[in-house]
Amino acid sequence: MPLMTSELIITIDGPAGTGKSTVAHLLAKRLGLEFLDTGAMYRAAALIAIEQSIDPANGSFLAIAIDESRLHFDWAADPPRVMLDARDVTERIRDLDVSSIVSIVAAQRQVRDVMVKQQRIIAQKHPRLVSEGRDQGSIVFPEACVRFFLHADVMVRADRRLAQMAKAGKTVDQQRIIDDIERRDLLDSTRTDGPLIRPEGAIDIDTSHRTINEVVDVMEAIVRERFGGDEFTS
Ligand code: DC
Repeated sequence: MPLMTSELIITIDGPAGTGKSTVAHLLAKRLGLEFLDTGAMYRAAALIAIEQSIDPANGSFLAIAIDESRLHFDWAADPPRVMLDARDVTERIRDLDVSSIVSIVAAQRQVRDVMVKQQRIIAQKHPRLVSEGRDQGSIVFPEACVRFFLHADVMVRADRRLAQMAKAGKTVDQQRIIDDIERRDLLDSTRTDGPLIRPEGAIDIDTSHRTINEVVDVMEAIVRERFGGDEFTS
């Protein structure tokens, strides 16, 4: 049953490997909302840096390149596809070369300024949205009606990432994945701009020992309870 309210933003933040993207997409589907994966935007920016040989720490250069690359989503698809101009980069941005520099890209103030602006514009055009990332409930949409913060043990998160990569036909050493996750956590939570923090007043959910569906069940129940019966179609 979709929610009836005209404007409705739900944010989901948390570190890599907590299942945010999958959970956010499923929750959006169950509630009849759209889904925004903001990590994909930073990943696309990292891909731009790789392809144009731009130093990932050169924020001002990158911000210009992002604008020129026409980074956007194809909203006709579900979940929306990540596009650089007419090119679909949805799969490419999951590769390890992108993952290994994306935290550096995401730490650049000029890059974050561009992204935050774009995310707010997206929300104006798509005002019924589940938006997931690191700063959605703290910086981008602090007024969102429900804000979640997801947690999970690092080993569980590494195993999930390994399974994801195996499914895509890629084999990667487990220790390399753990190191990558820990390095990214540290970079994400200690950067000056838009660090990964638990937004005050957010609802904490530990996903370590819950299936994806169990997590979505909990979140859906919280949202529906908060909105009350009048907000639902029959
Ligand atoms: O969720 P993910 O692993 O696809 O995110 C990729 C990177 O982008 C990760 O290093 C954190 C960063 N990110 C961010 O800084 N702010 C967001 N709103 C979303 C992601």
